[in-house]
Amino acid sequence: DGLAVVVVAAGSGTRLGYGMPKALVPVNGRSVLEHALAAVRRAVPGATTIVTVPAGDTDLTALARAAGASPVVGGATRAQSVARALATLPETVTHVLVHDAARCLTPPAVFERVVTALRTGAPAVVPVTEVTDTVRGVDTEGRSTGTVDRAGLRCVQTPQGFDRALLDRVNAAAGLLPDRGEGDPAGITDDASLVERFAPEHPVTLVAGDVESFKITRPLDLVLARALVNSRG
Ligand code: CTP
Ligand code: MG
Repeated sequence: DGLAVVVVAAGSGTRLGYGMPKALVPVNGRSVLEHALAAVRRAVPGATTIVTVPAGDTDLTALARAAGASPVVGGATRAQSVARALATLPETVTHVLVHDAARCLTPPAVFERVVTALRTGAPAVVPVTEVTDTVRGVDTEGRSTGTVDRAGLRCVQTPQGFDRALLDRVNAAAGLLPDRGEGDPAGITDDASLVERFAPEHPVTLVAGDVESFKITRPLDLVLARALVNSRG
């Protein structure tokens, strides 16, 4: 019904250091991508699903197809991967969720909160959690500039939800459309940041994320993911 999901899985997983693309790494017998696509299918059954895969990949491509999703070769950066996926969406798509494959254990309730906000007219929706560490600022030399009040900060997760026309427009404004060959704008690490930079008249709506939507980034995160899958049974 006009909803598409872009699952970005074209990264190399450098920080995880597992010797294969992160989305292929096994978590209790199934790859990160399979876990991610199972969560997507459970939360938003029937949505058109695009998976960005690394150039030259065959394994993730096969897993995507087996799950009923469409593989698209990603770009050099996450933002470029998202742009390439967007360029393949059918005209009929009105809303897009952009989700990190690496957040493969995201609970269905998080998807539901994002979709509900989109359906009530929010043009850009971001799931967030509270900051639990004490946070300190530093200057360019790494010298302390003081503690930052964490009450005014949130950690950003995915899936992020967008009005499709808005997401297309900010990707075009950022020069991210395929084949432009330009770098990402500085400091932009997610899709909602593009809205703030290139369409600031549109509000970004926050909904509750979940600690279980954590991104598998470093080896410790893989330990946590395996334990969480075990605990879910
Ligand atoms: N991603 C992508 N295309 C890229 C880079 C990243 O589709 N060129 C995806 C990753 O596959 C991941 C998500 O974006 O699901 C979040 O990125 P990140 O956690 O940084 O994954 P990697 O880039 O693979 O990891 P690293 O930065 O440690 O190499
Ligand atoms: Mg990365």
